[in-house]
Amino acid sequence: MSQQKPIVEFKNVSKIYKGKAPAVTDANIKIAQGEFCCFIGTSGSGKTTLMRMINRMNSITKGHVYINGKDVNQFNPVNLRRRIGYVIQNNGLMPHMTIKENIILVAKLLKWPQEKLDQKARELIKLAELPEEYLDRYPYELSGGQQQRIGVVRALAADQDLILMDEPFGALDPITRENLQDLVKKLQEELGKTIVFVTHDMDEALKLATHIVIMHDGKVVQNDTPEEILRHPATEFVETLIGEDRLAEAQHDTVQVQEIMLTTPVKINLGASLRDALSLMRDRHVDTLLVTDNSEHLKGFISIKDLEQKYRKVSSVSDILTAKLYTVHPDAYLRDTVDRILKRGYSYVPVTDDENKLVGIVTRSALVNLVYNTIWGDNEPMSAAELSQTPTKGADHSHE
Ligand SMILES: Nc1ncnc2c1ncn2[C@@H]1O[C@H](COP(=O)(O)OP(=O)(O)O)[C@@H](O)[C@H]1O
Ligand SMILES: [Mg+2]
Repeated sequence: MSQQKPIVEFKNVSKIYKGKAPAVTDANIKIAQGEFCCFIGTSGSGKTTLMRMINRMNSITKGHVYINGKDVNQFNPVNLRRRIGYVIQNNGLMPHMTIKENIILVAKLLKWPQEKLDQKARELIKLAELPEEYLDRYPYELSGGQQQRIGVVRALAADQDLILMDEPFGALDPITRENLQDLVKKLQEELGKTIVFVTHDMDEALKLATHIVIMHDGKVVQNDTPEEILRHPATEFVETLIGEDRLAEAQHDTVQVQEIMLTTPVKINLGASLRDALSLMRDRHVDTLLVTDNSEHLKGFISIKDLEQKYRKVSSVSDILTAKLYTVHPDAYLRDTVDRILKRGYSYVPVTDDENKLVGIVTRSALVNLVYNTIWGDNEPMSAAELSQTPTKGADHSHE
């Protein structure tokens, strides 16, 4: 997490509507600059209430909400709402104004010169990926999806760094909805905005969010990255929300190299003699050795073939070293590396940290076992005996 103050912070925030059970109970959330934060939960779980306390559309019963470190109650509410964008389901376009008039409404109130207004309007319609002649149409002449495009682009292209969106695509058909999700994600990244987005659709949250807050009965039940939530759902409710299929997929999808690597690779020092290398290979029944320097930096590998060919001509490991190696980082996801490892027929791949120090190896058999478990369930993991039968072809790394 960055040192920067969060753009939005909820500290022990509760909201109670008179005579009702609490709509929000003791929420603690930090949203950093540039995040795409989704509030997700079933209907009535308090998402909208939570969001509307950010710009004081809802008052706060208990606790504090801060914007860039300043308590929202210290802002003039009108100024606060002007500083924060807001997009709702029915897009907020004025029906009696053309698209252009709608787009430039605020800028016009700010008395921008006409030339700049025209330019702004053209820029926005382009961002919305709609033809320029739409500027002169009225909202009812556009489809719901096109209207919402305008609404989204207008909010994203405005000055505000922070934009609240409350189920903005809830009323759209699935295809239009997906197109708008793509648009909002693209613009958010390009323009560096922070978005707080309410949804009840897990697909939508997983597609858009860098940060997910899961609400249930007014309580925040999980507050984390999508990856962490998929990997470690906090409660049964979260599991249900994610769904079994996605969960099974995620378990496989988010396994990191460090979880399945062996931390005791067979290795030898750069300066060691070929005689030592040969006896180590014999003792450990391997046909390649990883080679490291005195501070564990990975320098390459040697193979039994090279060793046999040059045994008489040279004396040290460094003389027969092959420096080119395909390595992976311990934090890397297996989904991104498994294909390369399996397809290229490596029997193992070295794992190196940020400083290129050797920290382990991922073996082909460990991968095969993992893939096996994912497909068949892990009720009957392969035995050690079965694993050792996996053919161990020499790791020919020189193809990299
Ligand atoms: N203005 C209000 N007056 C009274 N109760 C409200 C009001 N707004 C929301 N609630 C109640 O607060 C709870 C949370 O509502 P809301 O924040 O709209 O949930 P969500 O957006 O997750 O569907 C619900 O029980 C709802 O009935
Ligand atoms: Mg709502």
